[in-house]
Amino acid sequence: MTPVPVAVLVSGGGTNLQALLDALRDSAVARVACVVASAAGAGALERARRAGVPAGVLTHPDDAGEVVTAIGDARLVVLAGYVKRIPPAAVAQLRWRVINIHPALLPAFGGPGMYGRRVHEAVLASGVALSGATVHYVDEEYDRGPIIAQWPVPVRPGDTPDTLAARVLEVEHRLLPQVVVDLARLGVPAKPVRLAAGGSAFVAADQLSVRLGDDR
Ligand code: GRF
Repeated sequence: MTPVPVAVLVSGGGTNLQALLDALRDSAVARVACVVASAAGAGALERARRAGVPAGVLTHPDDAGEVVTAIGDARLVVLAGYVKRIPPAAVAQLRWRVINIHPALLPAFGGPGMYGRRVHEAVLASGVALSGATVHYVDEEYDRGPIIAQWPVPVRPGDTPDTLAARVLEVEHRLLPQVVVDLARLGVPAKPVRLAAGGSAFVAADQLSVRLGDDR
């Protein structure tokens, strides 16, 4: 099997990119074929350079043609801390081949303007006991495409946006490579899929419901 070529789109420091580079380094299933940044200052570009992966910077992230050209022959496109909107014409052309990672349990705490620290501030302000990471398909609406996999993370008393972000980020670094490998193994399906990738909390919850069922 030839590894599925993956394009990773970035805007920031690129720790999720690094997790993908590390996880896929010797993979026969998927490989990071190129990195595309929305701005020249993205720290992620240095990570691409160090890994010897071709990297480019978009001059007009709103230009669908430029985005599609930058992605080249990649079969799967991963938004890893990419803050620009994918132009609708590019979304249409790449339907169900573009995925995004979001640092909360969507559909809560998502949407326009909900990125970075603001997500964790909103989670803490709401008083929920659970946050987490979500990988979902990118469609025309911010953070609303079909969910592929989620991994819950507890919100702890005394959490600050930074402590919560760090706990969620650790999980992101495990979830994203799992999803990429699973989608690549499936040949990047032409229709949305829901994967079992993610944390053990779901397994525990399933076992609990089975046990409760047995007791009745
Ligand atoms: C991550 O929290 C990701 O979920 C969000 O932006 C952050 C990117 O971090 N979309 P990094 O650039 O991968 O370190």
